[in-house]
Amino acid sequence: MLIKHFSILQISLLTLLNVNAITATTADTTISKTKVKMSDENKKFKILVTHPEVPQEGIDLLTRDCEVIICQNVPTVRAEILEKSKGVDALLWGGHDALNAEALDAAGPQLKAISTMSAGIDYVDVAEVKRRKIPLGHTPIVLNNAVADTAVGLLLAAARRFHEGRLKIETDKWEGGHLNWMLGQDVRDSVVGFFGFGGIAQTIAKRLSGFDIDSVLYTTRRRVSEDIEKEYNAKKVDFDTMLSQSDFVIIASPLTKETAGIFNATAFGKMKKTAVLVNIARGGVVNQQDLYEALKTNQIFAAGLDVMTPEPLPANDPLLSLPNLVLLPHLGSATQRTRADMAVIAAHNVLRGLAGEPMLSPAY
Ligand SMILES: *[C@@H]1O[C@H](CO)[C@@H](O)[C@H](O)[C@H]1NC(C)=O
Repeated sequence: MLIKHFSILQISLLTLLNVNAITATTADTTISKTKVKMSDENKKFKILVTHPEVPQEGIDLLTRDCEVIICQNVPTVRAEILEKSKGVDALLWGGHDALNAEALDAAGPQLKAISTMSAGIDYVDVAEVKRRKIPLGHTPIVLNNAVADTAVGLLLAAARRFHEGRLKIETDKWEGGHLNWMLGQDVRDSVVGFFGFGGIAQTIAKRLSGFDIDSVLYTTRRRVSEDIEKEYNAKKVDFDTMLSQSDFVIIASPLTKETAGIFNATAFGKMKKTAVLVNIARGGVVNQQDLYEALKTNQIFAAGLDVMTPEPLPANDPLLSLPNLVLLPHLGSATQRTRADMAVIAAHNVLRGLAGEPMLSPAY
């Protein structure tokens, strides 16, 4: 099983990690043999895994040559993480707890490597980790397929009114006899706009090309390669053009100071009335109050969200009263294989950091 995972990971890393392809090759040949050197006193390195549900595939790699401590609480309890991180050489940061100066101080100056088990690292004070010169890894790429599947599911469900349809049945309002009842939006021949056009967005575009879409517009800081543009019939445009010309708008950007709340009333006002919004990135990119208003007043047609603010969303949140909103509880990468792959990458990141080698997927 583990060997199978390795070969799959190797292939996906080699094909997808353009810049890191060479690193990945080296990594995959050395990792199986990587003997993490002992620290000065000939003691094993100590690694804290901050979440008890980090898949065994990752833990097994760590325990080969290191001493592994695993936090016990689900959900995680910060006090436990801080206490158990004291004196460790590395952290496998399994949840989305704030990884900041407080956490780094709690571990101590001997800390040599950290990896998260996520693609987005908005909960990490990257500048602080960098300032302390601690290598930091994360786990992008391996979750692209799973998140892209979720995005396509949300897009179809919102465009074709799956949630509203279910409500009709539940409330005995299934109206037979009409020809114009519960009509939705076509994906075929549509223009799909992406806010952010990295690995996840491109994986979504790849899937949607099978649905015979017309073209892709994307808004990013940097243009992607001409090859990628050709492959997805994609064109870089400014934010307002993307909003006004897209039938589907998919948020696939990191949450940063620049992107926080950028999808607000002004943005929704520029979108087509028939447009469908999908967010599989971070809830904070959307001004949720404004989205509520836009959906309630049918300023846009529908939305599908895998991420929101806060998470978990309380059951009495007004968003849940909207028939034209499909909500998922942040299930983007939640498949067994993807989680195992993420743990394996995170473990490799940590081990390579301890060995003084470049991480498989460095975060900075
Ligand atoms: C929405 O965000 C834009 C850009 O950040 C800003 O210029 C605009 O004033 C905002 N609109 C509202 C209604 O807050």
